[in-house]
Amino acid sequence: MKIGICSDHAGVEYKAKLIKYLQGRGIEVVNFGTDTTESMDYPDVAHPLASAVESGSVDLGIALCGTGNGMAITLNKHQGVRAGLAWGTAIGKLVKQHNNANVLVMPARFISYRLAVAIVRAWLDTPFEGGRHQRRIDKIPVKKS
Ligand code: RB5
Repeated sequence: MKIGICSDHAGVEYKAKLIKYLQGRGIEVVNFGTDTTESMDYPDVAHPLASAVESGSVDLGIALCGTGNGMAITLNKHQGVRAGLAWGTAIGKLVKQHNNANVLVMPARFISYRLAVAIVRAWLDTPFEGGRHQRRIDKIPVKKS
């Protein structure tokens, strides 16, 4: 299992700790940055992470910014990405179970680190349910005419 992870300056502290958490679970982690608290633009790290998910060079992704919305909006521009925003463990579970989110996005400025880890655990350890949810996911991509 290989997970790509990225954050802007607002999520960098949680990202650093999550990398250690994931590695402790035996997961290989690819860090797409940023690695300082200096203000930066989230699309600069979100697009490379999304491309890695789309190409299969990583299996899943995790992204953090202040609200999570900048990351989610950017990541979801990529057709092969289903980035789901989660701010609680129930949503972290459902975003995999129902939406099969291949990128988990969290709002670092609005949750504790402890909660962030619990959300990651819920998302990682929950399987996709398939069935009617697969049918819905199949309808998400924008069809080219
Ligand atoms: C950074 O100040 C903030 O705008 C960013 O982390 C994020 O919340 C954007 O969606």
